[in-house]
Amino acid sequence: MLTDDLKSVLFTEEQIAKRVSELGAELTRDYEGKDPLVIGILKGASVFTTDLIRHMNTPMQLDFMVVSSYGSGTKTSGSVKIRKDADADMRDRHVIVCEDIIDSGVTMSNLFPLFETRKPASLKLCALLSKPSRREVEIKIDYLGWEVPDEFLVGYGLDYAERYRNLPCIGVLKPEIYS
Ligand code: IMP
Ligand code: MG
Repeated sequence: MLTDDLKSVLFTEEQIAKRVSELGAELTRDYEGKDPLVIGILKGASVFTTDLIRHMNTPMQLDFMVVSSYGSGTKTSGSVKIRKDADADMRDRHVIVCEDIIDSGVTMSNLFPLFETRKPASLKLCALLSKPSRREVEIKIDYLGWEVPDEFLVGYGLDYAERYRNLPCIGVLKPEIYS
């Protein structure tokens, strides 16, 4: 079974569902009448983003970007590549960027200045997870699911070498899998 590769489960499917619905309710409240543009960062945030928007009870628009910074290892390379840009025009829109996890912060610190040049009405970051102990650049997370310890996590969109994204829970991969 896929879960056999986990050392431990950090968040169960039920815990994730509850937290994501809470975040969605917060966004519903904060973005009422603002017709926000939610931009999910693929592939990691795919599962989170599509769950989250179903808890946003307000008109909104969904878009995705494909960004890569990791290759198949477990450490960031420091450079960020936009493989597919958003289709929607961000100008004068209330943009919510949706990320799976903020680790070093390098990815978002590269993307946010670029987004600012597109003149959105507002720009906020919503991340399911954050590893503060790993931060190399300071990042303001406006909506956050949980802070997590410095361990390599998989599931609920998070991958190791493109695997484990389909796990419904979030867990710590056994070190022997990637060492
Ligand atoms: P950052 O640029 O270092 O903040 O890295 C952000 C990206 O690294 C995230 O969007 C994830 O795709 C990936 N990442 C960081 N930590 C983990 C992890 O524990 N498991 C899986 N992917 C991770
Ligand atoms: Mg990612």
